[in-house]
Amino acid sequence: MGQNNHKFPKEFLWGGATAANQAEGGYSEGNKGKSIADVLPGGKKNRHKVLQDPHFDFEIHLDQYSYPNHEAIDFYHRYKEDIALFSEMGFKVFRMSIAWTRIFPNGDELEPNEEGLDFYDHIFDELHKYGIEPIVTISHYEMPVHLVKHYGGWRNRQVVTFFERYVNAIFNRYKGKVKYWMTFNEINSGLIMPIVGLGFSIQNEEDKYQATFQAYHHQFVASSLAVKACHELMPNAKIGCMILYAPVYSYDSNPENVMYALQEERLFNYFCADVQVRGKYPAYMKRYLKENNIELDIQDDDLDLLKEHTVDYIGFSYYMSRTEKKVKTPEEKAQGNIMSGVKNPFLKASDWGWEIDPIGLRISLNELYDRYQIPLFIVENGLGAYDKVEEDGSINDDYRIDYLRDHINAMKDSIVDGVELLGYTSWGCIDLVSATSGEFSKRYGFIYVDKHDVGSGTLARKKKKSFYWYKDVISTNGEKL
Ligand code: BG6
Repeated sequence: MGQNNHKFPKEFLWGGATAANQAEGGYSEGNKGKSIADVLPGGKKNRHKVLQDPHFDFEIHLDQYSYPNHEAIDFYHRYKEDIALFSEMGFKVFRMSIAWTRIFPNGDELEPNEEGLDFYDHIFDELHKYGIEPIVTISHYEMPVHLVKHYGGWRNRQVVTFFERYVNAIFNRYKGKVKYWMTFNEINSGLIMPIVGLGFSIQNEEDKYQATFQAYHHQFVASSLAVKACHELMPNAKIGCMILYAPVYSYDSNPENVMYALQEERLFNYFCADVQVRGKYPAYMKRYLKENNIELDIQDDDLDLLKEHTVDYIGFSYYMSRTEKKVKTPEEKAQGNIMSGVKNPFLKASDWGWEIDPIGLRISLNELYDRYQIPLFIVENGLGAYDKVEEDGSINDDYRIDYLRDHINAMKDSIVDGVELLGYTSWGCIDLVSATSGEFSKRYGFIYVDKHDVGSGTLARKKKKSFYWYKDVISTNGEKL
């Protein structure tokens, strides 16, 4: 795709995104408790095995596995250096998350942990020093393990109360410092990764249907309570939902496949956003719940709460599209990523099997805006790739620049299509631990971090070619791509 001459609005929010568990490290410092991310092993094979293990014990097994999230890229100690680099690129915003276990180590305490609160005070102050606005995800794949083990994760209604306590603690503390919030990272991904999204593994049919959708109901209630508190405490702040969005294409024009793609799209892409944006359960879910014998325990005021406290914007991640067919052979299946689907013959894939589809981003932006008519925010997008440090120390990641350029062009087109887009935070603006494969070698950053899958590395930071490219993109407000 070539350069296009459309323009971004003047106030467009350019930046980058990370998550606490994938960047901070310091996993047991500052009185932090153990989170789900802390018990996930490193390496694609081991992580996939654990993520699908119905009997996963949520324990650390140092004799068996490595745990890259424990040190991650040590943002916990190096945040000043990293934020200075973000500022050098001209970031207007920085998306990060707060680790729930730094604030409430076990999740069910009555009082927050001052050391944890203090840590994020320093981060926000450092960002503001450079005029960078933080965008904070309240829960990014890391609920306290204690809530998993003693309460059964989000299937238990009590967790809503614990989450509300956590939310009130951070809202009261940071109300003068944070204007953009999001509730649950990729809330819909709990359907494919329940261990990280919902805090339990699927052991049987009852877990797969009844417990899963009850857990979702609890997250929706928790999300509405957060929206309510945010609007009451911070009238000038905005709070969004956050979904994983991958448009679903039908493999062909066979109506059976088209219908299947529609059903997949509704359940995976839209169900959560329909509740969080439109404030009620969508009609198509009634049939789904009934056919799967799911009876939701909905308390008296829940539905009013969902209706009255809907989100201000939709944050979403976009990496790829997905192509679906009702009946697929093993050979047809798209390889390498955790979503199902078949190979799309028109698309190339990344080294991890994620199909690269910039037009799919334009389709997504249009579909989402047509459906919801509220502002959108692309809070994750990027290319996970192997990078090579040349002998002269340079890192020439032209493949990443090409990927980003094509997606930014698609954003420009969508703005001309009429989509209201608040901003763009590229994922893993600094290399970090991959969420689905627990690797350092799957790099997304503009900034290289000298840290490797085997655990070695000095943690030194280095600017890649894309660093200078993105700096130009921001300084020209997307004109020079
Ligand atoms: C999203 C998550 O799923 O995609 C991030 O919100 C994650 O946490 C990102 O890192 C990329 O996925 P991966 O598996 O390449 O890290």
